[in-house]
Amino acid sequence: MRPPFVITVDGPAASGKGTVAAGLAAVYGLAMLDSGLLYRAVGVLAERAGLDLDNAEAAAGIARRLRAEDLGDPAFRTRGAGEAASRVAVHPAVRLALRDLQLAFARRPEGAVLDGRDQGTVICPEAPAKLYVTAAPGVRAERRWKQLQAQGEAVGYDEILADIVKRDERDGSRADSPMRPAADAVLLDTSQMTIEQAADAARRIVEAARARWEAS
Ligand code: CDP
Repeated sequence: MRPPFVITVDGPAASGKGTVAAGLAAVYGLAMLDSGLLYRAVGVLAERAGLDLDNAEAAAGIARRLRAEDLGDPAFRTRGAGEAASRVAVHPAVRLALRDLQLAFARRPEGAVLDGRDQGTVICPEAPAKLYVTAAPGVRAERRWKQLQAQGEAVGYDEILADIVKRDERDGSRADSPMRPAADAVLLDTSQMTIEQAADAARRIVEAARARWEAS
């Protein structure tokens, strides 16, 4: 039987994957899961509880208690939240605790768009459409700088670039579910693209995958 039409959009920080994923969700009328937000929430809530982010069991306790309705806090969108997320995301117990929520999303019969680091490799390897969105670190740092400025968080470009490089390294080298493209993911490098160009390119890739899925 044909799997649901799931689109996975993985890639590093500020690569444009969130924007691409939201655009695809609108075009295809699909619900979208921002899986990074789950890790951000666990990181921030663990910090607020005064826990050590390197303590896997403590962070997993927070992850097990996380509910979809807890995810609206704007504090989860800050620079510090991204860093906290990446630290708790190395723990297998945290990843396991967040797995069911992600699987439930991936198995929606009507399909979905899943945004993250391991959606195409671990959460939904059977997804008919997989994208891996990247961009050069300097371009990503500039995008994130603008985004944080717009949110009222003034941070220097150099610090953001350093954050991004450190996070790429941590996310890419962890043993459990490292950030990497699935074997059948299509790479989309958005370094030289505007948001509209990236969204168009993503739609063309997904159209081709959808045609194959419909014929299957
Ligand atoms: O928006 P940005 O790409 O900066 O971050 P995000 O997608 O919200 O993810 C924040 C952090 O959560 C990442 O750096 C990863 O460490 C972790 N994450 C993960 O491990 N697995 C996912 N599926 C999504 C995020």
